[in-house]
Amino acid sequence: MTQVFYRSPRQDYPTISHGSGIYLWDSTGQRYLDGSSGALVVNIGHGRREVVDAMAAQAGRVAFAHTMRFTSDVQEQLGALIAARLAPVPYYTYFVSGGSEAIESAIKLARQYHLERGEPRRTKIMARWASYHGNTLGALAASGHLSRRRPYAPLLADSAFPHFLGPVPHHPNGEDCYCLTTLESRMQQEDPDTIAALVIEVVGGSALSGFIAHPGYFRDVQALCRRHRILVIVDEVMTGMGRTGEWWAHTQEGLEPDLIALAKGLASGYSPLGAVVAHQQVWDTIRVGSGTFIHGLTYGGNPVSAAAGAAVMTIMERENLVRNARRQGAYLAQQLAALVKDFALVTQVRGRGLMQGLVLRSVDGQPGEVAKSLGDDAFHHGLIIYPGSGAARGVEGDHVLIAPPLTITSTEIDELLDGLRASLQRVQRLRGG
Ligand SMILES: Cc1ncc(COP(=O)(O)O)c(C=O)c1O
Repeated sequence: MTQVFYRSPRQDYPTISHGSGIYLWDSTGQRYLDGSSGALVVNIGHGRREVVDAMAAQAGRVAFAHTMRFTSDVQEQLGALIAARLAPVPYYTYFVSGGSEAIESAIKLARQYHLERGEPRRTKIMARWASYHGNTLGALAASGHLSRRRPYAPLLADSAFPHFLGPVPHHPNGEDCYCLTTLESRMQQEDPDTIAALVIEVVGGSALSGFIAHPGYFRDVQALCRRHRILVIVDEVMTGMGRTGEWWAHTQEGLEPDLIALAKGLASGYSPLGAVVAHQQVWDTIRVGSGTFIHGLTYGGNPVSAAAGAAVMTIMERENLVRNARRQGAYLAQQLAALVKDFALVTQVRGRGLMQGLVLRSVDGQPGEVAKSLGDDAFHHGLIIYPGSGAARGVEGDHVLIAPPLTITSTEIDELLDGLRASLQRVQRLRGG
């Protein structure tokens, strides 16, 4: 008997016991290889004593002090570490507790930026089909993800969040993209002077598992936004912190965003932590303008979470985990590519670094079924992967993300692949393939 309101009340959940490296154990002793770092969270792997010690030391000194009154050494340290990884472009970090909060904060900051600059008509946030930016109402309104939006559609402020068709795989004309003119005409339709910001993921996350637009697309988007004084928000909640083989996915595209949303890998799951990172010109606008970002969340800048984040970044630097993500990501991608010819169920492999997506052949009329079956079968046999589907018209199909901790070795990748192949075989057999 439970008093916990589970995500799926009819489902039986194993009880987590402990974790170490890329593995988790439940209370029955069953071991799981964490092939998706949870939901692309645990970049440094499980059970790192050093992070726990840093959090305990901070909690022992002081666990909470409201940011209306105080800063803390750890918040300053983490701000400096993030800024150093983004240098020479100057950035300032506003800390929150997760990805949705980071997006909400970025949306509000973009709006306030334009107000302070005397452009009060700029109220809209443009976002892309297909995308995912979070589950709170503002972040969900920005998300171009049909199945997640559907039940809440009446609550989403659609007129404030116009969507555009971004590049999608399997475009009906045989191209991989709706070109820039689609975005341009969507902007004109809205009136570009009413748009505050545009939010993008540069490598598809849960909506598009590892999909990457054609080279130069995002630079063109940024140039278009600059031309209309629209801020660019890059959502690096999944892609940031080394996941794609560089510290940030936006630098791989040659972008200089006005705002960057971070979470997940920032504290690697050791504590809830997110951030919106603002370019100097945004910071300056608020500083010399009203002097206050009219926003605030009780747990923003929490010292224990900041201590976790600082310890995580220190480990990432010392162990060269970004380089490992690049190297092992190349190995993983190469090994996954073989699945396309070995399994009729797998139609494509795509991604960057240790963020690889498998596109699966969907069952007609049942989008999501195949990804769910594969995810459930793998979990049942001790492998965790991250299923997705139902994002947007034209890309309703099934896909899974393979994204293990950045500490992974090639031997561990081989083990992950053995588990994945076994699951693909079982699911394919079940479907008569
Ligand atoms: C790209 C992206 N943005 C935002 C979010 C929301 O983050 P959170 O679940 O921490 O609120 C997610 C979560 O999966 C995400 O993948």
